[in-house]
Amino acid sequence: EKYFLLPVLFSAPSYACKRRTTLKNHNTLLTEALSILAESAELNEDEGRGVAFRRAAAVLKCLPKAVSSMEQLRGLPCLGDHSMRVIKDILENGASSEAESTKQSERFKALKVLTGIFGVGAKTADRWFREGIHSLSQLQESGHTLNQAQQAGLQFYDDINLPVSKTEADAISEIVEKAVHAVLPGAEITLTGGFRRGKLTGHDVDFLITHPEEGKEEGLMPKVVSWLESQGFLLYQKTTRNSYLESKDGPGRPASNMDRFERCLSIFKLTKDRCVGQKQGTKQSATAVRVDLVVSPVSQFAFALLGWTGSKLFERELRRWAGHEKAMSLSSHALYDNKQSRYLRASSEEEIFAHLGLEYIPPTERNA
Ligand code: GTP
Ligand code: MN
Ligand code: MN
Repeated sequence: EKYFLLPVLFSAPSYACKRRTTLKNHNTLLTEALSILAESAELNEDEGRGVAFRRAAAVLKCLPKAVSSMEQLRGLPCLGDHSMRVIKDILENGASSEAESTKQSERFKALKVLTGIFGVGAKTADRWFREGIHSLSQLQESGHTLNQAQQAGLQFYDDINLPVSKTEADAISEIVEKAVHAVLPGAEITLTGGFRRGKLTGHDVDFLITHPEEGKEEGLMPKVVSWLESQGFLLYQKTTRNSYLESKDGPGRPASNMDRFERCLSIFKLTKDRCVGQKQGTKQSATAVRVDLVVSPVSQFAFALLGWTGSKLFERELRRWAGHEKAMSLSSHALYDNKQSRYLRASSEEEIFAHLGLEYIPPTERNA
């Protein structure tokens, strides 16, 4: 009798919203390389290519073990030829030459620096790059007129590009709670985004605000912003209506009562007590933290919560599943069933997953 040592064969559903992806990643070398290539594609505004690399990285993130040979990947979804070449390179040579040269390229480095400015997207960064602007000092010397967001982004560049810790997120939570309860007692505040998925750091802090009585949340955002401003907590803020509402048609079009969805992109001033010596006592130092606030009517809360918890790929895959497999349109406002021509109500994330015919995936397992 002969025994063969078979490699562990991996398998995974092709939709990220059907997989459980925790923060424990056994394939960081592979996923980091693929993420660099995704980022580079996104900076070049090649969305399709970006998504392809993001999907490939996400499949590897959910594997229970480190990949050690190409054979193990047979049968895994979302791994195209290009991603497979990158993986092969890493397994054979310890690194991806393409990811390494991308990281070191003048263009990638410059676009990263420029899009690190709050309010600067890939388009603007690319235009500046082509004008020869590759650094913050070159931007400042260029005489370009920056909008308010970009001015704030430049002013607080270092702080904003430092990861936000959970401790800082908790401190911001307390401030936001105080502000919201000062202007609307009974309102409820939920931490969303990466921190709700269990991440220990983030690029910002995301909150969703609602009130158990429908309509009570109306006009809340300007009041919260005024309170925060009066207390000196805001370095910058811009309140906008959700762009989703501007679309006038389409199957998932929200009813007219949905035009109350507001969001506020802000930069908070967080003062922390820093011990500088036993005798001298404490000295105050401040840091700037990006904070996103969203107000939702309670009838849309579950959709908003699901939509703002992420990850971005998990959200994208949920919408793709809804559209392609269920003939439904999912947004952060509602779920529309195209076959029944009606909106499906939900008061919890669990109900939304059930409507979509999906097993419930908790936030900590949505780190695709
Ligand atoms: P870090 O902040 O880097 O820790 O990651 P994150 O997952 O929290 O990312 P981010 O704060 O950018 O976004 C959080 C979630 O909100 C993600 O799922 C996004 O898809 C979602 N989101 C961000 N912007 C918008 C928007 O304009 N509209 C809607 N509906 N969702 C958004
Ligand atoms: Mn976030
Ligand atoms: Mn955010």
